[in-house]
Amino acid sequence: QRKFFVGGNFKMNGSMKLIKEIVDQINAANLDGSTEVIVAPPALYLLQVQEMLKKPVEVSAQNCFTEVSGAFTGEISPNQLKDANVHWVILGHSERRSLFGDTDKLVADKVAAALKADLKIIACIGETLEEREKGVTMQVVERQLDAIAGEVKEADWKDIVIAYEPVWAIGTGKVATVEQAQEVHKDIRQWLSKRVSSAVAESTRIIYGGSVNAKNCGELAGPPDIDGFLVGGASLKPEFLDICKVQH
Ligand code: 13P
Repeated sequence: QRKFFVGGNFKMNGSMKLIKEIVDQINAANLDGSTEVIVAPPALYLLQVQEMLKKPVEVSAQNCFTEVSGAFTGEISPNQLKDANVHWVILGHSERRSLFGDTDKLVADKVAAALKADLKIIACIGETLEEREKGVTMQVVERQLDAIAGEVKEADWKDIVIAYEPVWAIGTGKVATVEQAQEVHKDIRQWLSKRVSSAVAESTRIIYGGSVNAKNCGELAGPPDIDGFLVGGASLKPEFLDICKVQH
């Protein structure tokens, strides 16, 4: 049985004031833990949010580097996240891939380093519009997954959540249809079964991201292979709580 999972990725948004308001709303919602909820504020606010949040909601970083420590100005190491009791990190987000040079190899190296530091990972994959139109969605997704899987031992898949985020659906208001999302999620699960094991395929959460909101989350939560959401824009609004409470 896979526990439903909702992550809020604030990206580079928010301020001390706004983030406090959001956390106050999350705390007031008294989430019952039937869905696993994590929020990923900008790194600057991680400890503040962690301090304020009531259990069972946890924080996640939005990125980390591959090294334990050293002369890497501006970076945060997975070991430092662990040291600060931050247990989750988002890796391979399409914005990291397209804007900051996170190649498949760099994402894989970050995954390896994060696992070594005992972090849990939301590993993001997804095709661009051009790739979807060319009909190579699964090739792209498998290439991205393959790089990650090369660094994950079978026993470590319990610490990985796969986020399928089609790039064309991110921040565009253009949500994938339920059928489009379920089709890719099912293919990812089949891929996991072949590449890793049927047990890992059965137990790994595959969540959807891309223009998820309070209105569309109910329908998207329906199909058997959609195990939750990674929410961007809507995670900064009160409707995030409707998404956290969606029936599934
Ligand atoms: P939006 O929900 O704003 O489309 O962003 C999705 C996303 O990238 C979450 O990581």
